[in-house]
Amino acid sequence: MKKKPKDEKMNDYQNFPKKSVGLQWYARGLLALWSCLVIGSLTWNIMMTREEIISAARIQARVAYEKDIIYRRWNTGHGGVYVPVTRETKSNLYLSEIPDRDITTPSGKALTLMNPAYMTRQVHELAKSEYGVLGHITSLAPIRPQNAADPWETQALQAFEHGEKEVSAIGTINGQEYMRLMRPLMTEKGCLKCHAAYGSREGEIRGGISVSVPMAPFWAIYHHHAQRIWIVHGLLWLMGLLGLIFGSRRLTKSEQVRIFAERSLRKSFGQLEAKVEERTAALSEANKELEKEIAERKHAEVEAQKAHRDWKNIFQAMGHPVMILDPGHRVISANRATTEFTGQPEKELIGKRCYEIMHGTKKPPAGCPMQKMMASGCKETGEMEVESFGRTFFVTCTPVNDQEGKLQKCIHIATDITQQKQAEAELRKHRDQLEDLVRERTEELEVKNAELERMNRLFVGREFRIKELKEKLKEGEIKHFKENE
Ligand code: HEC
Repeated sequence: MKKKPKDEKMNDYQNFPKKSVGLQWYARGLLALWSCLVIGSLTWNIMMTREEIISAARIQARVAYEKDIIYRRWNTGHGGVYVPVTRETKSNLYLSEIPDRDITTPSGKALTLMNPAYMTRQVHELAKSEYGVLGHITSLAPIRPQNAADPWETQALQAFEHGEKEVSAIGTINGQEYMRLMRPLMTEKGCLKCHAAYGSREGEIRGGISVSVPMAPFWAIYHHHAQRIWIVHGLLWLMGLLGLIFGSRRLTKSEQVRIFAERSLRKSFGQLEAKVEERTAALSEANKELEKEIAERKHAEVEAQKAHRDWKNIFQAMGHPVMILDPGHRVISANRATTEFTGQPEKELIGKRCYEIMHGTKKPPAGCPMQKMMASGCKETGEMEVESFGRTFFVTCTPVNDQEGKLQKCIHIATDITQQKQAEAELRKHRDQLEDLVRERTEELEVKNAELERMNRLFVGREFRIKELKEKLKEGEIKHFKENE
């Protein structure tokens, strides 16, 4: 039961095409981009390495040149130096004008003056045989014809005439590659000793020294570096390729899952929409109901407010002082009659205890109907003297209970019966007077009555005797009559 839906799902998405065409194109594009990137980096790296190698060769050439200049300057500083004459070092032909060109030491050793160019030439020959570095001191107008410039040097010398300070390039000499570098030689003061005779002036370009460094060792370093760059880039490209293959495989798989998910999502979305519609309808129904309820409640509230207002009006309109008290005798509300009677506004009365206001005492007075009401739980009444105001009230305390029957408040109605009381007293006085009068009269009457009774008794005796006489008379008459008959 539980497994079945899962199986269905599996079958469902296994039915999708195994390969996505769009994705394949995407992967190919990515591979092309990756290849371009790797090739770009390779070319750039190799170019940079080549440039670095070339500039390293140039630096070496410059160093060689600078060394030449220093030695030459040393020589110039001495106006040429004397060296022993040997088979290789003979007197310089072109110095024949200079006095003391050839001298002999006191011990008989032959010395000849060596000019900077001559020395440089000899040093260059040494460098050539020992390091393979070529050097050449030359000029566009050489004193010594062998010093003539080759075509590259001629071009460089012409460039110096146009203000160039250094010329360098890779060139071939005798089938070998060299880094060639050339800088001009300026005519200084020291040079004039010999060169003035050949028409040189201070400050002009006399010629130049060209230095050629063999490129072979540099190219060896370069090839070594390049090889490493190739290997690294090859590996990088391969890694990218593998990543792409795995990535696209996983993507194809997740694409299938995505399509499946999308379809089921669309389906459930439809269901959801229906549900939302349903809910919306139910909600709007509930909303209407709620609106109705709110309207009803508002109406009820208005009614309640009106009722409260009505109640308040009635409460205020009552001619007797009426107070609503809490179980602790404290005033919750007092009507206008109360405020008028006490001379205090309702605001001041609220919260005060009724006996403080009415009797000015600290506790309820004896016979307080509120106390009685609290004890009995029923309506209680009582006549209360309000001493401070000199008035008498008939007080009614009615309890108001909550739903559980607990005392909530007390309605305290005080009816002013002072006048009634006075009238009653008056009445009592009259009645007493009347009673006195009646008593007086009764006494009088009793006296008279006694007299009358005596009189009566007297009369009754007399009458009785009369009656006796009459009867005797009658008897006598009858006897007389009978006697006469
Ligand atoms: C002691 C004399 C002497 C002094 C100092 C001297 N030179 Fe020369 N220089 C010569 C002679 C001689 C040659 C030609 C023969 C040779 O190559 O030795 C020559 C050759 C040259 C050449 C080669 C081209 C050519 O004309 O054959 C240059 C460049 C040169 N001198 C520059 C200078 C400069 C720059 C100075 C100063 C810094 C200088 N020289 C100082 C004597 C001198």
